[in-house]
Amino acid sequence: MSELQNIVTIDGPSGVGKSTVSRKVAAAIGFTYLDTGAMYRAVGWYFLQQGIALEETEAIAEKLADVELQLFPAVDEESDVRVFLNGEDVTMAIRTAEMAMVASRVSALPVVRRILTEIQRGYGERGGIVAEGRDTGTVVFPKAAFKFFLDARPEERAKRRVLQLQARSVAADFNEILKMTLERDLNDSQRAIAPLKRAEDAVLIETTERTIPQVVSEILRVIDSKKNKER
Ligand code: DC
Repeated sequence: MSELQNIVTIDGPSGVGKSTVSRKVAAAIGFTYLDTGAMYRAVGWYFLQQGIALEETEAIAEKLADVELQLFPAVDEESDVRVFLNGEDVTMAIRTAEMAMVASRVSALPVVRRILTEIQRGYGERGGIVAEGRDTGTVVFPKAAFKFFLDARPEERAKRRVLQLQARSVAADFNEILKMTLERDLNDSQRAIAPLKRAEDAVLIETTERTIPQVVSEILRVIDSKKNKER
């Protein structure tokens, strides 16, 4: 199977540091960061705004045809990807804990996954991307040459999430966030389609005891050594 040398995938559960790590890896190798979670969040936000319940699968399929999603790469390593839905900037609106849960529920719907996976593959065809999410190594880009799966204990992930929300001036309670983290783990890993799991050929990086720069260095080291072997 020929591998796609211009695609890096970074998957893992919520709060494991994937976004920060992916942004930094992308900047280091000159690739574009593709935040697939932002797409699920934006679509979830849209259905919430439209008052469409997630059980209304027909209405969802219909409405999805009207959704135009645009992702603009972050201006620097510290910023979020800017997300526009039908021309409206939803970058901030989708970053709440509530929207994370909505995204998790929306992401179990087959029609949503099919359409977002297609869009993500479109970005992949342009090449040079670091795709980050739950299924980028297993389903979206199974032929990516460089695959990683980040993991960490739930308590550590909840702690990181609290800090991240506080940095955005969003109030966050540790116990509440831990509960949501566990619920999202369950939703994301037990769903029937494209569940969160490590691709067999993804390098597992346990991040509980590691800093972001350590994780980034490890990923860059693996990418380099794999490239050198293929020369
Ligand atoms: O990475 P995130 O927290 O922004 O993702 C929000 C939700 O979207 C996550 O709980 C599950 C879903 N998601 C997914 O199902 N597949 C992806 N590739 C990315 C996110």
